[in-house]
Amino acid sequence: MCGIVGYYGNKDAVPILLDGLKRLEYRGYDSAGISVMGSTGIESVKKAGKVKELDRLVDDSVINGSIGMGHTRWATHGEPNDKNAHPHFDDTGKISLIHNGIIENYSSIKSYLEKKGRTFKSDTDTETLVQLISDIYYEDGLSFEQAVTVALSRVVGTYGIVAFCFDEPDKLVAARHGSPLVLGIGKNEYFIASDASPIVDHTRNVVYLDEGEMVTITQDGHEIRTIKDDTIINKAITEIDFTIEEIEKGEYPHHMLKEIHEQVHTITDTMRGRIDPDDGMAHLGGIQEHMDRIQKAHRIYITACGTSWHAGLMGKYLLEEYAGIPVHVEYASEFRYRDPIVDSRTVIIAISQSGETADTFAAIKKAKANGALTVGICNVVGSSIARETDCGIYTHAGPEIGVASTKAFTAQVTVLFLLSLCFGRKNGISAIIGQKFANALLNIGDQVQDVLNSSEDILEVAKLTVEADNYLYLGRGMNFPVALEGALKLKEISYIHAEGYPAAEMKHGPIEANDKKMPVVFLAPHDKTYEKILSNIQEVKARKGVVITVTDKRTKDLAALSDYMIDVPSSHPKVFPILASIALQLLAYHLAVLRDCDVDQPRNLAKSVTVE
Ligand code: G6P
Repeated sequence: MCGIVGYYGNKDAVPILLDGLKRLEYRGYDSAGISVMGSTGIESVKKAGKVKELDRLVDDSVINGSIGMGHTRWATHGEPNDKNAHPHFDDTGKISLIHNGIIENYSSIKSYLEKKGRTFKSDTDTETLVQLISDIYYEDGLSFEQAVTVALSRVVGTYGIVAFCFDEPDKLVAARHGSPLVLGIGKNEYFIASDASPIVDHTRNVVYLDEGEMVTITQDGHEIRTIKDDTIINKAITEIDFTIEEIEKGEYPHHMLKEIHEQVHTITDTMRGRIDPDDGMAHLGGIQEHMDRIQKAHRIYITACGTSWHAGLMGKYLLEEYAGIPVHVEYASEFRYRDPIVDSRTVIIAISQSGETADTFAAIKKAKANGALTVGICNVVGSSIARETDCGIYTHAGPEIGVASTKAFTAQVTVLFLLSLCFGRKNGISAIIGQKFANALLNIGDQVQDVLNSSEDILEVAKLTVEADNYLYLGRGMNFPVALEGALKLKEISYIHAEGYPAAEMKHGPIEANDKKMPVVFLAPHDKTYEKILSNIQEVKARKGVVITVTDKRTKDLAALSDYMIDVPSSHPKVFPILASIALQLLAYHLAVLRDCDVDQPRNLAKSVTVE
């Protein structure tokens, strides 16, 4: 949420910052801006709208310097207009700052500073921070980085910031508390960013800042210190674990479509080296040391937000069925503020693509404080949640840029398959059941390809239902979360209202909206729920509803009741939900494109939600 990029070196910072912002735009796209340290003062350009608007404006301005910062915003305080766009300045115009996060006590700081005569130009919480730094800097005679440290000790909330001051023009300062920052170390140049995507163009060497750390970059190099007690920290340099190709669209019109297609290999990548088909067992090195504790857990909580929460719900069905351990699935935003029963016999599994979601991060911190074992299922290597949890399993889906999650979701479900297989075998399922499941998982690649090959057929269904303003998605068992995720995908990117429901619950509410205008998408695998689903379809048809079925077997009965059918290959019952999810991703994608929506950057959304 909000993208931050900074540059310190001897090249022209402006193109580096603009390119960096384009890479970070998926984190927020309400407004964008840059500041560079010029020879006569700080120069800045900012603009409401996407980075391309800023780019146009920069073309018309003379702005250059070799130290700079850029920001792309997801608005929290103040509407997304020019004046609220970052960077923000103090009254003197000599200090500039960009910020990701929320300053919760901004109102009291603002009144304090207003009483001292400072005037504010924006409605943002961020401006209070830069003014506070200025107040301390010019009154207390501290160095710029010391003034930043003192100011940060007075704010409550979360931040990832980059700041500089014209009075100390060869210095760039960045700090994090609750919002990620990565330092890129090149040859005589530094980069600072919310994630490594703008850095990979320039260097693969990075240092991930941890909570409460601050970096000061000068001509002499960089120095990382703790904000709290100013202790110098020596941190290891690591290598970025992805390539430029992985974060570009390539031949695809949208990142989302590319990512949907990548599932042919991302699901198998997630399983690679982790499945033993002969023994029907999964081996998960990342949690090896804690196996005993997980196996003996009295209860497991799975906590997450958004799409990751839907993966978690699928995990509940799997873990309870295979491993026999009670599993509770909770929205992280709820978990963190209630009093769940958590102790040392509890295991918390936090699922997060980005590994940065503020609520999920807070939920694991709370669970840890209560003595629970925390397990992370994250996609981004080295992310905050990956580092904060006691142990974990990476999903290995590669960078996901489309705001609506696709390949990360199926990779998360794959990890939950592996967990269930592993603990299922330990807790009593037979080798034969394990082998069947393991082999079905290992053969999934071709079946995913079959679903992708049916994209044109799904497009035809989309064309015939594109006028509808409401969709209902229904499923039973593990396909209930698939229905939730299908509906979420559609509403995220096409702005069509959609709801997911357990199929039988339709009678307790949504059936009220049933008419020939509302498509009802049924997940209809040929499994033990088939007859029940058929009855639910009858109920919809009896009220002249439009039925779209996603099925692995076109029986006569089903075909007779369906207006449109989407086929997925027949497979193990636990594999159907994955294949059906991919089919529904394609349906949402095609509907969104037909409605001319911005698929990769849907309105008001952001990829990485680092504020609560
Ligand atoms: C945002 C994204 C979703 C994602 C959710 C949770 O809402 O747009 O795609 O599912 O955050 O994010 P996480 O990174 O924790 O999985």
